[in-house]
Amino acid sequence: MKIDNRYHRILGIESSCDETAAAVVEDGRKVLSNVISSQVPTHTIYGGVVPEIASRQHLDAIDGVILQALKDAGVTFDDIDAIAVTDGPGLVGALLVGVSEAKGLAYSLNKPLLGTHHLKGHIAANYITNQDWEPPFLCLVVSGGHTDLILIEDYKNYQILGRTRDDAAGEAFDKVARAIGLGYPGGPKVQKAAEQGNPDAVHFPRPCIEEEGYDFSFSGLKSAVLNFLNQEAMQGRAVGTEKGLSQADIAASFQAAVVEVLVTKTMQAARDYHVSRVAIAGGVSANKPLREGLRQACLKAGIEFNCPEFILCTDNAAMIASAAYYSWEKGESSPLDLNANPNLTL
Ligand code: KG4
Ligand code: ZN
Repeated sequence: MKIDNRYHRILGIESSCDETAAAVVEDGRKVLSNVISSQVPTHTIYGGVVPEIASRQHLDAIDGVILQALKDAGVTFDDIDAIAVTDGPGLVGALLVGVSEAKGLAYSLNKPLLGTHHLKGHIAANYITNQDWEPPFLCLVVSGGHTDLILIEDYKNYQILGRTRDDAAGEAFDKVARAIGLGYPGGPKVQKAAEQGNPDAVHFPRPCIEEEGYDFSFSGLKSAVLNFLNQEAMQGRAVGTEKGLSQADIAASFQAAVVEVLVTKTMQAARDYHVSRVAIAGGVSANKPLREGLRQACLKAGIEFNCPEFILCTDNAAMIASAAYYSWEKGESSPLDLNANPNLTL
């Protein structure tokens, strides 16, 4: 698809949390480059993302990351048609680095500025991985800050069917990982530990699973894990010790609870809204049992399923350039006084 019969190359910039990323994407789906500079090693020492440090590291990295994205794509600024940037939601200081950079580039190069919602980016990762994937579809967006069930009616209209009332799924993964001594970033570490564990070792609650509607809640589940750890320790069976359960058993039991809730709620919404396609997006969508659980459930229900390739599940700028392309095609662009909005809504 072309906007006025030319190839449209968008430079995407993403800096909402702890990855500084830039990418060049052609016509919304063809990734010419995708550069990600991760701050994970820095934040690991602190057990989580430190916002001030994140902002400073974005500042240090952003110019180099953008130049590398152009170089990898084999293009110069002259070949870029628009500048897309995540303008929210996220950490305000981190977002500001990307937004200021994008505004400066758009102004000096005299190219359109496309402020882009971070979650629209995550959802668009599906368009890159599966070139035939198009709305309408139902998408489970699960990241460190969000757990939303969204009906994507077309490239412009997003209907939120349900969302978490408290912690996001990724946040729960991160907090449980910390509690059982696996450290940061929690999601991948819990998944890895769980591979050696028994998912039936402890039956943790499945919040909201029996309720009508499509909301989630993960703070109770996280508390149930913490309470279990405390009780076991008080009875001389601390997790990870000779008498106690292993970290792997806790990780597997916790992960099984999260996956069951996410899969059940998604399939419930898919049935109620008679959708024929289901997708998944966001950092937690890299979780293998979740991907497989949803894939199997969709297969059984005769529903087409898509998930982004692993590198496009967590934060990246290719997804931002892709989402921006579809908004731009609908005539949307941003003024040069665009601001970072940590609470931007869809
Ligand atoms: O989308 P993302 O990169 O950043 C946000 O927008 O929040 O998501 C990060 C979240 C973190 O909470 C991280 O622990 C989780 O995604 N995550 C995972 C996995 N990989 C990343 N959670 C479960 N299993 C994984 N394999
Ligand atoms: Zn994200």
